[in-house]
Amino acid sequence: MAITMKILMIGSGGREHALIKKLLESDKCDKIYCAPGNGGIAKDAEVVSIGAMDKENMVKFAKDNAIDLVFVAPDDPLAAGMVDAMEAEGIRAFGPNADAAIIEASKVFSKNLMKKYNIPTAKYEVFDDPQKAMEYVEKENTVPVVVKADGLALGKGVIIAQTIDDAKAAIKSIMEDKQFGDSGNNIVIEEFLTGPEVSVLAFTDGKVVKPMVSSKDHKRAYDNDEGLNTGGMGTVSPNPYYTDEIAAECYDTIFVPTINAMAKEGRPFKGCLYFGLMITPNGPKVIEYNARFGDPEAQVVLPRLKTDLVDICEAIIDERLADIDVEWYDGATACVVMASGGYPLAYKKGIEIKGLDDKGGVNGAIVYHAGTKLEGDKFLTNGGRVLGVTAKGDTLDEALEKAYDAVSKISFEGAHFRKDIGRTK
Ligand code: AMP
Ligand code: GLY
Repeated sequence: MAITMKILMIGSGGREHALIKKLLESDKCDKIYCAPGNGGIAKDAEVVSIGAMDKENMVKFAKDNAIDLVFVAPDDPLAAGMVDAMEAEGIRAFGPNADAAIIEASKVFSKNLMKKYNIPTAKYEVFDDPQKAMEYVEKENTVPVVVKADGLALGKGVIIAQTIDDAKAAIKSIMEDKQFGDSGNNIVIEEFLTGPEVSVLAFTDGKVVKPMVSSKDHKRAYDNDEGLNTGGMGTVSPNPYYTDEIAAECYDTIFVPTINAMAKEGRPFKGCLYFGLMITPNGPKVIEYNARFGDPEAQVVLPRLKTDLVDICEAIIDERLADIDVEWYDGATACVVMASGGYPLAYKKGIEIKGLDDKGGVNGAIVYHAGTKLEGDKFLTNGGRVLGVTAKGDTLDEALEKAYDAVSKISFEGAHFRKDIGRTK
């Protein structure tokens, strides 16, 4: 194994930028490439224009450039077998194999897994026939009711229906109109749960699981949790609702049973497993699993990681995570996402971002680039979520104050951000 390593990061968002900045702290990391990357990432890594789903060219690039470690960050290439493709050529890759990434890629798979292994989650039924699904919601006659497309749908495949008519319309649009394509061939209809949501990312090598510090995502577009669901408008860590007692319960009833269940199914999960939890009046339950770091959860969790991330990745690949002590900094972090006007619906691109220094940052904060591109020495907007402006503090209040202070120094036409990150349930 090389002592100084060349790493290839696959992906192009704020999460990937946060991973790259953390990997660069390691004295074992010699050089990072990122495919396809973005304008801000280009200041920290060498960007390579290969699409995240292009397995053939990605493997070729890794071989030609003697890459020591490939880090597959987004859900789509994981589900499509990017890690498998690398391993087939003897290239070391961080992330689950496709047959384990299915825990995110198929909600039918994950719900059935939880039922089989008694992992707490919302009660549900699976349907492959829209008529039967509609008869079921009519017969149950309970609202709100949650309708979920089985497959990946850019975080948009979940509809919380407030009336039976809305539920039927959701079933129709997913299963008959194919709003999310083949992702909607099957659906899950489940019980509506209530309580604060918590995101817990965890390192696992398929044998042991080491939860990271907790975080809280703010998914709705506007303040007071109004507007459409987005990929995430901001995060804080730790999550104020995640007490030590709840953490211990989650470890025993959710984290360890999930890792063991995947191993038992012959699909050992290696990488970062994301537990989307709800702390219901009847205890913590799983809302969803993701087979990867969350975005923008990574932006608040990674700055708190003290242990060398390269060492952790290597230990996971070699299945010796039990030997590693994963340590964290105390204090808190906050990330405020600055988005393009209109996001998550249509938005303009190519607008100049003002207030960033030549490295793409601002004093007093860490600016993770999500949707930017470089044109000469200017940064332009190039996506829905543009920047994740992140700060650390001894307390959450201090982190939030620093993050919002940095946000106030950055501007672009139409910029939109939530003003209540860290302040709502
Ligand atoms: P997901 O895309 O699976 O993360 O779901 C998006 C959001 O829908 C979650 O963050 C929850 O806020 C909400 N949600 C999903 N399932 C349920 C449920 N069974 N009960 C209540 N809210 C839910
Ligand atoms: N922020 C939610 C996710 O990454 O899925």
